[in-house]
Amino acid sequence: MDKLLIEGGFQLNGSITASGAKNSALPILASSILLKDKLTLSNIPHLNDITTMLEILSSMGAYMTFNENMDIEVNTSLINNLKARYELVKTMRASILVLGPLLARFHEAEVALPGGCAIGSRPVNLHLDCMRKLGANIDTSNGYIKASAKGGLTGANIEFSQVTVTGTENAIMAATLAKGQTKITNAAKEPEVTDLIKCLNKMGAKIQGEDTDKLIIDGVRELKPTNFSVMPDRIEIATYLTATTMTGGEITVKAVNPNTIDKVLQKLELAGAKISKDKDSISLKMKKLPSAVNISTAPYPSFPTDMQAQFIAMNSIAKGQSEVIENVFENRFMHVQELIRMGGKIELKGNSAMIDGNLNGLTSAPVMATDLRASASLVLAGLVAKGITKVDRIYHIDRGYERIEEKLKLLGAKIDRISE
Ligand code: EPU
Repeated sequence: MDKLLIEGGFQLNGSITASGAKNSALPILASSILLKDKLTLSNIPHLNDITTMLEILSSMGAYMTFNENMDIEVNTSLINNLKARYELVKTMRASILVLGPLLARFHEAEVALPGGCAIGSRPVNLHLDCMRKLGANIDTSNGYIKASAKGGLTGANIEFSQVTVTGTENAIMAATLAKGQTKITNAAKEPEVTDLIKCLNKMGAKIQGEDTDKLIIDGVRELKPTNFSVMPDRIEIATYLTATTMTGGEITVKAVNPNTIDKVLQKLELAGAKISKDKDSISLKMKKLPSAVNISTAPYPSFPTDMQAQFIAMNSIAKGQSEVIENVFENRFMHVQELIRMGGKIELKGNSAMIDGNLNGLTSAPVMATDLRASASLVLAGLVAKGITKVDRIYHIDRGYERIEEKLKLLGAKIDRISE
């Protein structure tokens, strides 16, 4: 199994290019099911989760080719199997994103129920409720969601009781081909939702209200082939900027949309980083130890839960005390025990972590990744710890960070992937 070996204590300097956003690419790939033709996508990152989504699509009868620019062309004209198998769904919860598009185009779908996961129970009740609102019959038995809508879906008013990112994306995709109008309130406003809306509208969908929590969707009979470039990965970008705030140094991340990570940038500035934004790049300079910052996670545009673990790593070596409150997932603190093993002074109380910055720094240890962002926080801790940190179970990190060790090496980190 692959592991990362990281020798801590080196500053990060130089420039890297951001990858395409995993959490935008996944729903956009799923949206190809809505089309009886070809969707051409660029800036799709090479990640295990993307491979899983491509496997699900091909298991249904879609086929993929790469054109001369290495863009992926997904052709869904011959889909004939409306089932997402447990063997694939169990490896990636976002597989639920095929439910809405399958129901919308074929009026039928069978998707394995995703189980719990390392960051919380993560039920899919809100996804199912909105499919029912749009007229689907849903039966969950033998570990599968069996959904059907004879005669097709019909537009409806959907009010989410809680903000859900993939739930909103499923509702949007289902409503795109439903008869009549759908109004969604309390919709997620994450930039990845907006990216999906942009792609669907380019395919001929009629969706209004992007970037807001009120969406109006007028169903259309069919969509047309198009090409689309996926947005940059704001969490990947924010992770490298946080890493540099910890190690010190000066980096530029290219091919970014700086406006999507304002809350993270504000917190990094409070920690002492000097940040400058250009149209499509962000530069960060850090010449001292970071100062501790409080954060409280919530849906966009607030501070993202996907950066919480990385900020706990930063606060562990920062000057001062801080409180990190996790409001989105009920169990997203698995990294804390590993950071404590590296010398972090962290106490958990319910959904908050109290951190006393350890000015003696962290020390290396063999640690284990438990989920994607938890693994990122351990890599960041390894970059500043004394000695060599070995991070195990890095298949989690390969789900969401493209070539992390190559990008960090480019910036001067001492990091290697080993197989043992
Ligand atoms: N929730 C329910 N019922 C539902 C759906 C959600 O109770 O039917 C709850 C969840 O348990 C959670 C909260 O609502 O407490 C928000 O969950 P949400 O549905 O927004 O999460 P998600 O759509 O499953 C996406 C990202 C996550 C990211 C969250 C929050 C994708 C593929 N995944 O998950 O990304 O943390 O939104 O922003 O877009 C990651 O990239 O590491 C990652 C976990």
